[in-house]
Amino acid sequence: MNFDFNRPIDRRQSDSRKWHRYPGRDILPLWIADMDFAAAPAIVEALHARVDHGVFGYGAESASLHEATVAYLARRYGWTVDPAWIVWLPGLVTGLNVAAAAFGEPGDEILCATPVYPPFLTAPANQQRRTVAVPMTRSGGRWELDFAALERAVTPRTRAFFLCSPHNPVGRAFTRAELAQLADFCVRHGLVLVSDEIHCDLVLDDVAHVPVAALGGEIASRTITLMAPSKTYNVPGLGCSFAVIPDAARRAAFKRAAQGTVPDVNVLGYVACEAALRHGEPWRQELLAYLRGNRDLLEQTVARGELPGVSMTHIEATYLAWLDVSALGLTNATAFFEQHGLGFSDGAPFGVAKDTHVRLNFGCTRATLVEALARLQRALAAR
Ligand SMILES: Cc1ncc(COP(=O)(O)O)c(C=O)c1O
Repeated sequence: MNFDFNRPIDRRQSDSRKWHRYPGRDILPLWIADMDFAAAPAIVEALHARVDHGVFGYGAESASLHEATVAYLARRYGWTVDPAWIVWLPGLVTGLNVAAAAFGEPGDEILCATPVYPPFLTAPANQQRRTVAVPMTRSGGRWELDFAALERAVTPRTRAFFLCSPHNPVGRAFTRAELAQLADFCVRHGLVLVSDEIHCDLVLDDVAHVPVAALGGEIASRTITLMAPSKTYNVPGLGCSFAVIPDAARRAAFKRAAQGTVPDVNVLGYVACEAALRHGEPWRQELLAYLRGNRDLLEQTVARGELPGVSMTHIEATYLAWLDVSALGLTNATAFFEQHGLGFSDGAPFGVAKDTHVRLNFGCTRATLVEALARLQRALAAR
């Protein structure tokens, strides 16, 4: 190992939103999706060099950044992207909101599959659209899109489908066949497919991530792909992400919707992004191995029955675990776990019944996860 993911880094005194949530309380923060690891040395070195330059005027994406991004997408996914298709953004949630505003009219409907990352459910309403949530099914130990229910949910006002691929919070890495079926659904109903692929480089299993737009054909021109180095390389605080929009008219509509309200990307965000895409791979490979270890520890603890009342499906991608705690019959699940020193994300904002699920972020040191599992066992025994 060249990188030390076991090294504890005290984030309590830093500017971390994750670690500021429980001041003065002994609660392990396992909620918001950032990791407790330092960024890859290649990223830190590039940032040092940029800071040493000393001038921080308004930024613009460089030809070199475009070149790195296009080369990365070709190398990792065999996806040929024209640099002109890329729209830089300060965040992916911004991208979801801009996409919701860019197409159709107020009152139009946007489909998504629940449970899902909460901004999928709130972005349409922020932009005077209506969210239509279609629950996924949990069959044979894995979550799947419910195509029959999706067909029933389409109305003349449906404009778009918001996809999370890989999926937060259920950890699915959708197969090429599932994505092709979704592409066919969107094309048949004339929908724009907004595909949030922020977790695409965090696939833990031996499954290839397929950018849905890389399937080609009509879906390529109907897709707004949202990507960022932020989750994989743990630089979300640097606010740099991008949309890939092959269709010129849809790209123009997206840019119009962003005009005047969406700020430029921070110059340090550009630097971190380029360093990650050019030099981050050795670090990413070791990160994936470490996260697999954390995932396996958690899954094996559940499989051995050491967390009675907690169930989960296998996590193919992301560092997030969607824990079904409905069997516990809790009346305030997050408060219960906080009382036992565990700060999980509440499941309800992801579009499920209150107190049935919590989300655990295992992007932490092994020691933190071991301690969290011990606390969880004690919490369940104390009921
Ligand atoms: C699916 C998904 N999209 C977007 C985001 C956040 O993106 P950003 O911080 O760039 O707004 C997250 C963060 O957890 C996420 O899981």
